[in-house]
Amino acid sequence: MNTISRGLADIKAQLTVPVSLLQDIATRFQMTMCDALSGKPSSLKMLPSFMGIPSGQEQGTVIAVDFGGTNVRILLIALNGAGQAKIIAKKIFPLKDKGGKYDYMAASVSGMQLFDFIAGNITEIAPKTGDVYPMGHTFSFPCRQYGVNQAELINWTKEFKTTGVEGQNIGELMQSALDRQGLGHIQAQVIINDTTGTLLTAAYTDNTTDIGAICGTGHNSCYLEPNHPLTQQPMIVNMESGNFDQIPQTSYDACLDANSEKLGQQRLEKMVSGRYLGEIVRLIVSGLVKDGYLTAAAENIQIPYSLTAEDISAMLADHTQDLEAVADIAASRWDMSSLVVHERTVLKTIAGLVVTRSARLVAATWAGVLYKIDPDLSRHHTIAVDGSLYEKMPGYSEDLAQAMKDMLGEAANQVTIRLSKDGSGIGAAIAAATVYGSS
Ligand code: GLC
Repeated sequence: MNTISRGLADIKAQLTVPVSLLQDIATRFQMTMCDALSGKPSSLKMLPSFMGIPSGQEQGTVIAVDFGGTNVRILLIALNGAGQAKIIAKKIFPLKDKGGKYDYMAASVSGMQLFDFIAGNITEIAPKTGDVYPMGHTFSFPCRQYGVNQAELINWTKEFKTTGVEGQNIGELMQSALDRQGLGHIQAQVIINDTTGTLLTAAYTDNTTDIGAICGTGHNSCYLEPNHPLTQQPMIVNMESGNFDQIPQTSYDACLDANSEKLGQQRLEKMVSGRYLGEIVRLIVSGLVKDGYLTAAAENIQIPYSLTAEDISAMLADHTQDLEAVADIAASRWDMSSLVVHERTVLKTIAGLVVTRSARLVAATWAGVLYKIDPDLSRHHTIAVDGSLYEKMPGYSEDLAQAMKDMLGEAANQVTIRLSKDGSGIGAAIAAATVYGSS
């Protein structure tokens, strides 16, 4: 075996998730869910949403704000009351300007400035005056909810640092910003997590949906708890599963965590979500350079986050004989310009291993939920997923399905994993219509 292949074999051994580990993670996840629900300290936050499953008959035209990452989406959505949601208008804008003109995710910006910026963008889509207009707000960060529109940000995730938002009531911050923009007739009715939105959107037409998840920049899942301890009724619970901490870390994961914004937090998310996958690959490759396995000059390999999930996607989609796209990415991101084909193959293989590990770890947590709500898998379950990783990363959905089969065998037929496109935004509209319709 030549030396780089030996280096790769070691990496492969660290990143592979065998069936025994999948089972172990699923069981630990199930136990952690039960601990958290019964009030024991746990890495799963298990946040109540105060939302159940929609009837499919919710209707009306509603504004949805989908805020959970670098890009904010404002949608005007018409619900027809027969399970259909139509996006009538849409505005997408970044919170961070690529040219460096502004960055609303930075610590130098206040919560008021952030929400004023968002409300300012809502003016372009919303009716200027008129009767009370319902708005649903997807806010995809861990929030302690006291009711459908009372949500307090526990802590930022996904490397957000905006000042003065943690501990605040997001509903009030948003409503005050709307009022300052002269949009007082728009009433923020509900605040939901994006996982909840994804579940609601799929459940609007398919009542077997009981898990919702985001596999995108961030990662998290929610599920329908059949008998919530607070209400003894079915309720969607935002698990904040990105914070799950019962999975063995590699040295690369530990290094990424040590240099991240929130040390020790969001450990699963840091192993699986789009925000971090490129960085894991970079850390592995920089290890190969350090150990002398890769000979090419690699000046920029030390730059954190110099590889993105989009780059990984392009690497995995490269089926050319000489792996041209892989070579281009290594050259442009890291100045690695003289990679031979074998070395390019190694880079692509590492990217694939990191992506497959992500899917298998996520699938294990979903199996944990299924063990909790239906141990015998006696009925059909749909897992609704939104997010760029699930939608666009080559091989991701196949890896998820394979891991489910590995864990559940034949019973995996009882589980459908499917895309809930734009679910995080549309779900906010469904949630708002549920509340508005009943008030
Ligand atoms: C982060 C947030 C969580 C959200 C997820 C996906 O994990 O903490 O609330 O659902 O990202 O956007």
